[in-house]
Parts: sequence; structure tokens; C-alpha cells
Amino acid sequence: MAMKRVALLTSGGDAAGMNAAIRAVVRTGLDNGWDMFGVRGGYAGLVRDNMTPLTVRDVGGIIQQGGTVLGSARSPEFATEAGRLRALATLEQQRIDALVVIGGNGSQGGAAALTEAGFPVVGVASTIDNDLVGSDITIGVDTALNIALEAIDRLKTTASSHQRAFLVEAMGRKCGYLALMAGIAGGAEVVVLPETDTTPEQVAQDLQAAYDRGKAHALGVVAEGARSNAASLAAYFREHEARIGFELRTTTLGHVQRGGRPTAYDRILATRLGAGAVAALARSETGVLVGMLEGRVAVTPLSEVVGRQKRIDPELFALARILDR
Ligand code: F6P
Repeated sequence: MAMKRVALLTSGGDAAGMNAAIRAVVRTGLDNGWDMFGVRGGYAGLVRDNMTPLTVRDVGGIIQQGGTVLGSARSPEFATEAGRLRALATLEQQRIDALVVIGGNGSQGGAAALTEAGFPVVGVASTIDNDLVGSDITIGVDTALNIALEAIDRLKTTASSHQRAFLVEAMGRKCGYLALMAGIAGGAEVVVLPETDTTPEQVAQDLQAAYDRGKAHALGVVAEGARSNAASLAAYFREHEARIGFELRTTTLGHVQRGGRPTAYDRILATRLGAGAVAALARSETGVLVGMLEGRVAVTPLSEVVGRQKRIDPELFALARILDR
């Protein structure tokens, strides 16, 4: 397939490193002699024909910026068939030969839908949740993890000073990766994940056990998708405070985790995956997700990615349980 005009978009939740991916896709694409186009505002921009040519200079000075200079969105319109037909019409009118989609699970679902409709698409694995099959690690995870870790380190100071128990809620949708890794790296006394069945009473016992072992602090990390999230655990502790015997303060990190400057790791990962997407297009390998598998840039068919969720490593969860002593 002779490639001449290639468009790219960022979609779904923004992730630190998306700009490095945009820069890599544009510059390597231009290096191949292609014309490159940026779609503004994710799939919504495709539905509304909002795209602009991108030159080498247009993607200068963005590698160190968080978020995405192209803008992102969750587009309910694109989820409908009528919306997807309008998106395909835009691609045809603009004589676009292929599309690069930088995003997570939902966004790659959109890429798979366009692939099924016969349009050449390559996905780039980008989400702080790290739930995508086809990439051991995705763009934005390392930055989000470091932000969560800084919050944990800071909260531990106050937890120790006041002998107060703290619970930090990490993002991650239905995946416990961020919470588990933040818990291991931050030395948490307990981690509560969607993938495990930790009851509020167990959380209370684990935090109490930390005090019993002579620790000045007791800190837990809970994933937002866990059966008991920070809000429900806080309610449980309030209800049973007299019996439990200590107070629990919760901090929900929320979107703080998605912002800020990308770490060196995320910039390099995004650069390699962006360049990998262009290399896949040059090989006419489309309908695939470009990710990092065992330290190498690798492609996986979108049909094997969409509708699935990567599992957390049970050995790491077991290790967290040993280390929290
Ligand atoms: O997928 C990334 C993510 O930050 C999830 O961790 C979180 O559940 C969700 O997006 C929040 O979505 P929104 O930014 O649309 O509120």
C-alpha cells in the first residue's frame, strides 16, 4: 500500500508522553516522505473534520509537556454507526491513507471498528491504567506511578507524625496495576485491588497489625476500581471507629495522576512506540496495536487486544503482602 497522507489522533484519557508519541509519529512519517495530519479532539475531530497538516516545527517543544497538544475526548458520537460513517467520510474527503490512534482500551476499540470497516489503522498503546493486552507497559504509566508515589511519601510523613492511618486511592479503572506498583514502591501496609477480594475488615486488621508491629504509620493504597474504594472504606471505618480504635483519612489522587511533565521513561517509550507505528505502516502492517513486549517494540492484532484486560501478576501481589511487614 503506497502511503502518502497519514493522520493521527489522541483519544480517551490523556497520558503524559502522548506528545512525545505525536512528535515521533509526525517526524518519522515526514522522514518517509509522507504528509502528516493531526486530528483535533480525538474521534470527535474525525467526525467533525477537524484536522490540520503538521510539519516538523509544529511538533517542536512539546516532548516535555504533559497532556496532548492535539486534544483528546471520549466521543459518544463515534460510538454510533452514524458517527463512524461520518469519520470514514472525513478520511475519504481528506484523502487520508492511514490513521494512527494513540490511546487506551476504548480508543483501540474505535481503531478496531475502523479496521473492520476496511480502513488502515495502527494503534499506539497509551493509558495510565496499564490494562492493555499487547503492551507490558503503556505510555503515561511511569509518570502516573511517580506522581502517586510522591503523594504516598508525603502522606507517610504526616501518618508517622500523627499516628494516623491513611488510605490513598489510585486511578486505573478496573485494573489494579497502578495501585499495586505504587503500594510496592511506596511500602504500603495494605493494597486493595479490583483483582483481589479484600474486605474492609481485612484492611482494618492489616493497618492495626502495622501499629502492633511498632510502626508509626499505617498506610494503604486502594485502586479506584476495587470493590471497596476509598469512599466505601472511609464510611466503614467511620461506622466502626469505636471498635477499630483509630481514624482513617483518605486521599483520592484522581486526575492529578494524569497531569504534569512526562518522565524520561515515558518520553522514550512514547518515542519508540510512535516510531514503531510509522514503521508498521511502512510495512503495510495495519489493524494492529504497537506496544512494548519483553523490551521490544511489537505489534499485536487489534482483534486480540480489544475487549480484553491485562492481568496483574499474582506473584507481585504476594510479594507486596510479604514486604508490608
Ligand atoms: O483511563 C484513564 C483514566 O484516568 C482511568 O484511570 C479513570 O478511571 C478514567 O480515565 C477517568 O476518566 P475521565 O477523565 O473521563 O473522568
